Amino acid sequence: MVRFVRAGGHGHLILRRKARACAISTRVRPPTDEKGHALMNDDARHAARADDHVLASTGDRPAFDVSVAHQARIYNYWLGGKDNYAADRKAADAAIAAYPGVVTGARANRQFLARAVGHLTADAGIRQFLDLGTGIPAANNTHEVAQAVAPESRVVYVDYDPVVLAHARALLAGRHEGLIDYLDADLRETDTILEQASRTLDFSRPVAIMLIAILHAIPDEDDPHGIVAKLIDSVPSGSYLVLSHVASDIDPEQISEATARLNQLSHQRFTLRDHDQVLRFFDGLELLEPGVTRVEEWRAPELATRDLSAMWGGVGRKRVVA
Ligand SMILES: C[S@@+](CC[C@H](N)C(=O)[O-])C[C@H]1O[C@@H](n2cnc3c(N)ncnc32)[C@H](O)[C@@H]1O
Repeated sequence: MVRFVRAGGHGHLILRRKARACAISTRVRPPTDEKGHALMNDDARHAARADDHVLASTGDRPAFDVSVAHQARIYNYWLGGKDNYAADRKAADAAIAAYPGVVTGARANRQFLARAVGHLTADAGIRQFLDLGTGIPAANNTHEVAQAVAPESRVVYVDYDPVVLAHARALLAGRHEGLIDYLDADLRETDTILEQASRTLDFSRPVAIMLIAILHAIPDEDDPHGIVAKLIDSVPSGSYLVLSHVASDIDPEQISEATARLNQLSHQRFTLRDHDQVLRFFDGLELLEPGVTRVEEWRAPELATRDLSAMWGGVGRKRVVA
């Protein structure tokens, strides 16, 4: 079962109109170039126009706009996906030229997600996931990994990008008795997200809060550490935090040049953080072994590549009070 909820106070009209924009994007696939990448066409323009009315950008919340690169679509390109436009590919390629490791990092990050969810479901008995910053669906989406082990698992996905919303209906349909919900919301609307997620998740039972490759899109002035602390406060002991973040202190010159290029060419602005700053997100939690490591080193049976990523990742557990 899949539900769509618009977090925030805009009401049903917006939901229906957004659903129309979604249908344009998912049922009528845009034409593609010779490599199969999406091209701007009348349907996309129409969707963009429809979205102008319903999803005008607030703050740095992206509107549907294929002329400017979006984080979700850049990441999709690095993962080898086809749901990206010329502006996304230009920004993604500019970052690759500065630091080829961004591609390895994106793929290693995705594998980290799968290993962490697999561990929490199979070994820690977690059955509820709040996945913030879902991204365009790819291999090993959270519900697929969790429900393969425990079909009754419940997942609430949250993202603020209209492109992700457009794909969510078609691609996030669970096959099992578990529930999947999708919230169209900005991570900074933390209270609203928690309230809406409680329709699907039972916050009196452990929940895995997943913040995978999203927090670098939250600048310091929006208090990312405060957002994480509030999320952790809302879940009971025995809950988990799964987090990854682009590193400022791995290959620092190259990664900062790649980030500068992305910041120039894309809608969002990214803030890199070092190991200590990432570690601080886990304050008050028990860090699972091996701690905060490069994502490809976190409980990987063996390193699949010599090209290491510039991403820190870890998993922490909220202490069980005796
Ligand atoms: C790099 S993708 C990561 C996707 C997925 N978590 C993964 O690791 O494979 C980051 C996602 O976070 C979303 N995002 C960034 N800032 C956000 C915010 N403030 N609120 C909600 N979603 C956000 C983007 O739209 C994008 O889809």
